[in-house]
Amino acid sequence: MVRPGAVGAVCASSRYLAARMAAHVEQDGPAVVLELGGGTGAITAALLARGVPPGRLVVVEHAAPLARHLRQRFAGVHVIHGDAADLAQLRQRPGWPADGQGQPLPVGHIVSSLPLLSIPPTARGRILAAGRQALAPDGRLVQFTYALRGPSPWQQAGLAVQVRERVLRNLPPARVDVLRHG
Ligand SMILES: C[S@@+](CC[C@H](N)C(=O)[O-])C[C@H]1O[C@@H](n2cnc3c(N)ncnc32)[C@H](O)[C@@H]1O
Repeated sequence: MVRPGAVGAVCASSRYLAARMAAHVEQDGPAVVLELGGGTGAITAALLARGVPPGRLVVVEHAAPLARHLRQRFAGVHVIHGDAADLAQLRQRPGWPADGQGQPLPVGHIVSSLPLLSIPPTARGRILAAGRQALAPDGRLVQFTYALRGPSPWQQAGLAVQVRERVLRNLPPARVDVLRHG
């Protein structure tokens, strides 16, 4: 059970923002949708409603109580209690969706609600490098931010913005960026 006031509860996205994030996921082929910063699961729920199969959805959450909550709420989704900066190692752990030969499936989409602008530069740099490396060559990364202007931190990591939209039906209003490898 997650207490009201716990970290994810105070920053839960509206269902409109969650739906706009999920709308940019177009799954075709054997790849994983990787959510970074699952919180209480607003975006996880929207990804499942979008049609992402639970067995192809991986959620990384840093806060242990929230990771436990996500596991209880979403049966069949692979929830990892860990740091998004450690993606390379997390992909090798048992439980990551695998192909017939036991190789970890590639990451076709990253859907991130990590508060990148609040994370100290060194840690942020590690997350950006790990995310860029994990994303398949033709993959797509979706990130929301409350900063309505300015570049996406993912551009510093070499990704290029394809789509940018504002979502006003969220408190506070948010921006959704969709990026690909440059
Ligand atoms: C802004 S909240 C978003 C929660 C939820 N996805 C939503 O949209 O309602 C950000 C979440 O990212 C998690 N987080 C922060 N840094 C992280 C990291 N380095 N690795 C994994 N999760 C992290 C926090 O614990 C928090 O649950």
